[in-house]
Amino acid sequence: MNASPRTAPTPAAAARPYDAERVRRDFPILTRTINGRPLTYLDSAASSQRPEAVLRAMNDYETHSHSNVHRGVHTLSQDATAAFEGARERVRRFLNAHSTREIVFVRGTTEAINLVAQSYARPRFGPGDEILITALEHHANIVPWLMVCEQTGCSLVVAPINGRGEVILEEYLARLSARTRLVAMAQVSNALGTVLPVQEMIAAARARGVPVLLDAAQAVPHQPVDVRALDCDFLAFSGHKLYGPTGIGVLYGREALLASMPPWQGGGDMILTVSFERATYNELPWKFEAGTPNMVGAVGLAAAIDYLEGLGIEAVGAHEHALLQSATRQLEEIPGLTIIGTAAEKAAVISFTLEGIHPHDLGTILDAEGVAVRTGHHCAMPVMEFFRVPATARASFACYNTREDVTRLVAAVQRAREVFA
Ligand SMILES: Cc1ncc(COP(=O)(O)O)c(C=O)c1O
Repeated sequence: MNASPRTAPTPAAAARPYDAERVRRDFPILTRTINGRPLTYLDSAASSQRPEAVLRAMNDYETHSHSNVHRGVHTLSQDATAAFEGARERVRRFLNAHSTREIVFVRGTTEAINLVAQSYARPRFGPGDEILITALEHHANIVPWLMVCEQTGCSLVVAPINGRGEVILEEYLARLSARTRLVAMAQVSNALGTVLPVQEMIAAARARGVPVLLDAAQAVPHQPVDVRALDCDFLAFSGHKLYGPTGIGVLYGREALLASMPPWQGGGDMILTVSFERATYNELPWKFEAGTPNMVGAVGLAAAIDYLEGLGIEAVGAHEHALLQSATRQLEEIPGLTIIGTAAEKAAVISFTLEGIHPHDLGTILDAEGVAVRTGHHCAMPVMEFFRVPATARASFACYNTREDVTRLVAAVQRAREVFA
């Protein structure tokens, strides 16, 4: 399928002032009370909630169109195939990829990165080769590479960060060498919210002929992501951080690269012919989709993309940024509170510690007030180690958060301080 222009938010959506209270009403779960308090959901970086439109699209698919895809001539199978392949086209437009052959459905970001590790890196890399990552990475963008290092003898090289939690660009550039075979990095850090200068970092890698994988799990909900403008080679994201369901995610790969890679799992759907001697493999992208795929997940993901683009991603990003700034200003004033990660460019995430209170205890007190934040190492142990903290409390913002949510967060943290004083 050929590329068509990227969908812009409707002019009406772009012109309207952002109404977070109205957006909030699209999310049925947000009407829940927690411990007798209204729910203040500030854990969207772990998993965002789903709007009615996504729940309805999934229910419609299950109720009216479900069957197995690709293999059936009967009407329901064709309906299911149309829904699944239609979702792929929707993702292609979302990322502005050239072709649906470049869009592989996977379980999530983790599986996408493992696919590249095992199918791209493992057959190609050996001793002396280097994979360059940054010190900000989620475990999903560390462990698959450690496994490849163990399997092939290649090495993992890490570009360091400064005390604000920003990648030190000169250090990154200094580590890009003739030995670098792949750069794999987050576009936005999940633990700190740092937005990496990926355009510059990708350009430097590509100028040296080094392919780049972007972990866009924390980027796609907050800013438009265009794989052609970025000029990245691979990009991964998860549906459940984008107002869609769990169990579905996307690996984008440049077509020539995907075509050169062997399948990484074998089974039904990924083959053209099978005998007891050999199998021949299907075309892209199905070569990488062994077995029955997550059809309802793909339908939900497409509906989530429709929903987000309907709001306007830039408008959502600007709203979240205003909340982030307001929360930062107010939290900074609380004695004993330290914000971990103070990069100049940040998205939707604020990580902090409170003197004398373990983040888990803090999280429990906040929960009693109806405020849901994540506490722990956020699957980024090296980041915690760098800042010499065992864990942080992390509030993350999404399209449905309001100024009232920020007020409740700040009040709950103040209350925790009083309890532990
Ligand atoms: C930056 C980043 N990368 C990768 C992942 C892993 O995503 P998933 O668990 O959906 O595979 C996450 C999840 O928190 C993340 O924030």
